[in-house]
Amino acid sequence: MHGWRREHAGDLGLVPTMGYLHDGHLALVRRAREENSLVAVSIFVNPTQFGPNEDFERYPRDEERDLALLREAGVDAVYLPSPAAMYPPGYQTYVTVEDVSQRLEGERRPGHFRGVATIVLKLFNATSPTRAYFGRKDAQQLRVLQRMVQDLDLPVEIVPCDIVREADGLAMSSRNVYLSPEQRAAAPVLYRALQQARARFDGGERDAAKLRELVRSLIALEPLAEIDYISLADDRSLEEVEGIIEGPVLLSLVVRFGQTRLLDNIELG
Ligand code: PAF
Repeated sequence: MHGWRREHAGDLGLVPTMGYLHDGHLALVRRAREENSLVAVSIFVNPTQFGPNEDFERYPRDEERDLALLREAGVDAVYLPSPAAMYPPGYQTYVTVEDVSQRLEGERRPGHFRGVATIVLKLFNATSPTRAYFGRKDAQQLRVLQRMVQDLDLPVEIVPCDIVREADGLAMSSRNVYLSPEQRAAAPVLYRALQQARARFDGGERDAAKLRELVRSLIALEPLAEIDYISLADDRSLEEVEGIIEGPVLLSLVVRFGQTRLLDNIELG
């Protein structure tokens, strides 16, 4: 699809994905469909956003099923670049978004957001979208990409889309397939804990440490869950809030079930 960018008329909504599509991705496609005359989806498991000990090799893939789902959803184009097309020999240019990339996931997954920002910019260059759709589940990714678009004056609108959840509250993710039946049954504890924090916040609690502690204590009741971090941070900068919450905040967490890291979050205020 290189060169395709110059040929499309009207507005184009792009949904960047790594494939193994679920209802969360399809909700992004539906939203893009509503807001644009053309919709493109990219499928690319981007090697540069995986660390050396991460799951790049075993990341779930099912191209045939993905294409069938996208056909059914009525997308106009699917962009399926090969790693060699994206990163040919001699490749050496990367995008680094500074502060907002450093914390939380950035601290635990060095180089991750550099890989994300680089590939998303390349996807934008290949498709020239009017709007690009990202889920709120990857809350830090969303903020990193918003920063990149603002700082580099990119002519694209980032559209944040709500988290899509399973009936029991587990946020949809391609990585949920890694969970054993026992882990899967335990995983909704994340959302239950976040909801209780929301109820406490709505009831007037503004002490950041107390809200973090509430979430920690609820998740600690689940023996299969191992907390990686619980963060209550400024909604834009993602700087941790100490003391009293004054503006909008992001309450986010990563919890491990065995080898699998599950992310979830809610926005408060
Ligand atoms: O969220 C994802 O699936 C990926 O990080 C993205 C945005 C497609 C970049 O590879």
